Amino acid sequence: MNPERRFLTGHWLVLAGVLAGALALAMPASGGSATQGGAFPTSGKALYQKACMACHGPDGKGEPAERLGFEPLPPSFTDCSFATREANRDWLKVSQEGGPARGFNRIMPAFGGALSKEQLVAVINYTRHFCRDKRWPRGELNLPRPMFTTKAFPEDEAGIQSVYDTSDPGGSVKNKVFYETRIGPRGQLEITVPYNWVEVSDPGGGTTWQNGLGDSAISYKQVLYASLDTGAIVALGGEVILPTGDQDKGLGKGTSRFEPYVAYGQILPAQFFFEFQGGGAIPYDGAKANEEVFGRLAVGRCFYTGQYGRRWTPMVELLASKEMVSGEDTQWDVAPQFQVTLSARQHVRLGLAARIPLSQTDTRDVQYGLYLVWDWFDGGLFEGW
Ligand code: HEC
Repeated sequence: MNPERRFLTGHWLVLAGVLAGALALAMPASGGSATQGGAFPTSGKALYQKACMACHGPDGKGEPAERLGFEPLPPSFTDCSFATREANRDWLKVSQEGGPARGFNRIMPAFGGALSKEQLVAVINYTRHFCRDKRWPRGELNLPRPMFTTKAFPEDEAGIQSVYDTSDPGGSVKNKVFYETRIGPRGQLEITVPYNWVEVSDPGGGTTWQNGLGDSAISYKQVLYASLDTGAIVALGGEVILPTGDQDKGLGKGTSRFEPYVAYGQILPAQFFFEFQGGGAIPYDGAKANEEVFGRLAVGRCFYTGQYGRRWTPMVELLASKEMVSGEDTQWDVAPQFQVTLSARQHVRLGLAARIPLSQTDTRDVQYGLYLVWDWFDGGLFEGW
């Protein structure tokens, strides 16, 4: 017998004991809801000790493999990087319906029958105290991603976004691949690489389509303020856009630009929220691009299928930008859109938008946008469905 097997069989008793305990708790479940939770304590701490501690450990770190003898091991609630990311709603779902409800292991039992919603909320709130570092913003403040307004919440995400401009002439299909990674409790680095198709005028008086790399960007943002009590999150960011696109082909501006911005997200009552981003663009070579200021506002509401199911978020963005040269008017657009979570773990999301010009409508046409994002910290792209 190899050592690994011996380890597992040596501990099957522990596992059986723990599972039997958890099952005993989960069993009255099917009995009906009249007595639901009645036999159990109401304080979060007492509930934790009775229902969760056997696996998650007295200190929230998870009992060690030698004690449990099964995989996967419970995660550590003291690891703030893990323990602050998900909103209470997501943890309630796992505790009520069991691990598989979010694509996790079935060893994480379903307590929905044994414990009432109030008890589950109490025990989840209790697990939150294991993370001691309050700088980590809570997952509730991670509002849905609008198509054009940059979020304040730092992410570990990767994705693609395409925007199709129907203007004729002057159409384009602008695609970008982006990769975001959190740095410490409040920072985030992002790299963006675009690949575009653009319709440009040719010397003969007509137009031709060009395609190639666009202007790539690297950006950093830092959360300055985040509070679950006020439901607000504010971040300061800066983006450096590099002239990697061929200017002669109309694929790039031919100069570096710096875009400082502030991003603000606010939770409102009844699942409403808004997000704001205001900033500017400062070109290195003023002869090639103009200075610009912009303001973007997104307002939306989250809807859920079932109590903790798929999240649908209709949103509308109001977008304003102005080039800082005399005679230039402010450009206004409105962008109705929605986002939907695709995976059971809600870590793969799709966004669809239309961007409708409200000004200069003689030269500008509707644009259609699409993105797919994957929160890679939450699991592999094909995990958790
Ligand atoms: C039988 C052992 C066991 C018991 C009892 C148990 N858990 Fe778990 N729990 C696990 C395991 C194992 C995982 C990790 C599952 C995975 O990674 O696939 C987990 C994961 C979790 C997660 C993380 C979900 C996420 O989003 O990553 C939460 C939250 C959680 N448990 C809460 C609780 C609460 C609250 C209780 C008590 C009411 C409890 N657990 C009782 C074994 C258990």
